[in-house]
Amino acid sequence: MDKRIAFFILGGTGDLARRKLYPGIERLVKKGKLGKLVGLYALGREKGKIEEFEERFSKELSVPFKFIEFDVRDRESYRKLIKEFESLQGVELIFYLALPPDLFETAITHLGPTLRNFTNPRKIVVEKPFGFDLESAKRLNFQLKRYFTEEEIYRIDHFLGKLQVQNILSVRFSNYIFEGIWNKNFIDNVQISALETVGLEGRVSYYDRVGALRDMVQNHMLQILSFLAMEPPAVMGAEEIRDEKVKVLESIRRIKVSEVKDFAVRGQYKGYREELGRNSTTETFVALKLYIENFRWEGVPFYLRTGKKLKEKKTQAIIVFKEVPGNFGRLLGCMPQQNKLAFEIAPKNRLVFKFQVMPPSGLLACTVESSMEADMAESIGEPPEAYETLLEDIVSGDQTLFIREDESELAWEIVQPIIESWREQEDLYLYEPGSYGPEEAQKFIEKDGRSWVLV
Ligand code: BG6
Repeated sequence: MDKRIAFFILGGTGDLARRKLYPGIERLVKKGKLGKLVGLYALGREKGKIEEFEERFSKELSVPFKFIEFDVRDRESYRKLIKEFESLQGVELIFYLALPPDLFETAITHLGPTLRNFTNPRKIVVEKPFGFDLESAKRLNFQLKRYFTEEEIYRIDHFLGKLQVQNILSVRFSNYIFEGIWNKNFIDNVQISALETVGLEGRVSYYDRVGALRDMVQNHMLQILSFLAMEPPAVMGAEEIRDEKVKVLESIRRIKVSEVKDFAVRGQYKGYREELGRNSTTETFVALKLYIENFRWEGVPFYLRTGKKLKEKKTQAIIVFKEVPGNFGRLLGCMPQQNKLAFEIAPKNRLVFKFQVMPPSGLLACTVESSMEADMAESIGEPPEAYETLLEDIVSGDQTLFIREDESELAWEIVQPIIESWREQEDLYLYEPGSYGPEEAQKFIEKDGRSWVLV
């Protein structure tokens, strides 16, 4: 018999719920992948714009969709839930905190006691950013663990629901041709770029408290880095895969607060303060260099950069290989050329390999770059939306693509010195909207004799 489940979406009238969660749940219901969904509860302060979902779920899909007027900070609101729970005996309750991050703790500490007298199986899904720094993340984990077991906690990072991010592991661990050269002997550097053209799109008050480092680097980008750098697990299991990611995070060299300026650059697009209506040192751009101190990666820099209002929307993870010793180009005095393997996550799902070939003028001229490309949509069809994949995993209980407690704290440990240094430092560089970020981000990588690449 299908498992019976009910979703309680806290922040159920908000942007995330409307843009990603309800459409994702709807597609899963249509595909018959959710077991038996006996209730979808939208918890929010005002009903707002959710009528269309109410209509479609209740009428077309026969899923009871209910709006409950709810204030996360108000104890009375939780009493209303008790009434609902009483009618849901034996049903798995899935609580999704689609809330501003400063409300997570309040929600958890109220929800926990509210559930006390119920024996229903339960899960809690927590959105990112998971905390504001290491200390608050630890506190959040502590509160979660008071009421839920780790198996019931789903710390979500929607990048892990992206097919091309998962594909990093398939490509790495299923192809001799790549795995054999996936190390410091052959790789010069690794670059992860998450460039966005959008600005803040009405999220100014959230974003100004958070900034690019917490919004993108602590989670999405470190997750991509872990997939690129981890060792293959001995067993295909959620714990084993996450154990390997944890080892990567543990091996990342900790930057000292006093060295941050050599390892990180922050920028803000011109016009941000006007948009905000006040002064602010929140970064809308970050470039960062990290080293992983283990046998595989010793000495190989991992460069990360992300920003808003940049020239193009592009998310790519690129392996830049070393220059071939004694290569033809070098013998002919040409510019050195390096092979590149790129996982493009946006705008398309592509795997691109860039390599050198003979130019039309023949063997004794500088080689030119050519490329081989695999379009994932062509090989496996259009991937599902990231949230759809993750919602399905939550329901089925697969935690592989969710952040474990230790992982969440280690990722904060890595960015913590940067947070601390930026609290004190003045060096925030302004950049033109539509550019690739501040000049200093270029100089930052050029001083290592390298440049940013995209394919
Ligand atoms: C979110 C960030 O987690 O990821 C946003 O909060 C960012 O600021 C978004 O725009 C990028 O995700 P995607 O899937 O659009 O590349």
